[in-house]
Amino acid sequence: MALVRISGKLVYRGVFVFQTLYRFYLAPVILISRWGKQLHLFTLLLYLLYFIMSALIHKIAIFASGAGSNAQKIIDHFHQHPQIQVGLIVCNKPGAGVIGIAEKHQIPVLLIEKEPFFRGDAYVSALQAHGISFVVLAGFLWKIPPALVAAYRGAMVNIHPALLPKYGGKGMYGSHVHEAVIANKETESGITIHYVNEFFDEGAPIFQASCAVLPSDTPETLAAKIHALEHQYFPIIIEKCLLKPTAIL
Ligand code: GRF
Repeated sequence: MALVRISGKLVYRGVFVFQTLYRFYLAPVILISRWGKQLHLFTLLLYLLYFIMSALIHKIAIFASGAGSNAQKIIDHFHQHPQIQVGLIVCNKPGAGVIGIAEKHQIPVLLIEKEPFFRGDAYVSALQAHGISFVVLAGFLWKIPPALVAAYRGAMVNIHPALLPKYGGKGMYGSHVHEAVIANKETESGITIHYVNEFFDEGAPIFQASCAVLPSDTPETLAAKIHALEHQYFPIIIEKCLLKPTAIL
């Protein structure tokens, strides 16, 4: 398995390097060489290989509005992954921490606005122009418009900081969730990773993990436990969704 991953990466990188070399240095030489025809055929084959490899690469867009600690973990997990790359960060808040994270990793940022998101094409064409094949919501608070759900049905996941179907729906985000869990004297909470549909937190569940809620817990201590679970599981579940799309865990 490791060998397949490494050779996949090498072929992809190799073809990329060749393509760049060919474009800028080899093409003029090949044109005047007597082996020109054969070399062109060889180049064509390499291009074909390159396009096949490109088609096999999953490009993720992470939608986030906040600090972006989950985005950071996902970026770290897929850094140099042979088949999956984080290709875009989508954010609706100009000063959000996630933008700094994207810049540090040289990942393009798409700053979105309400009007085109809710009354335009929901940025579907912009995502397609970036070659995005999978969308991850990691602390993104706007409701996803039907056009975007339709474009990425089965290819868009969200993480929720509670054990859905409990403590989900409109208004249930961030500390509101943990406050409600503690107020109701729950003895356990956790995370839910689920596909996204037209309704808040109602898409098919993919994975849940739980943690104990102690009488001494505050919304802050519970949030820290939940964040630890998110960081541990979200990247690997995304990877499983992409590489084994039929695996519901
Ligand atoms: C996470 O707790 C996630 O469950 C919720 O938003 C939070 C985002 O945190 N959907 P961060 O910005 O990734 O730190």
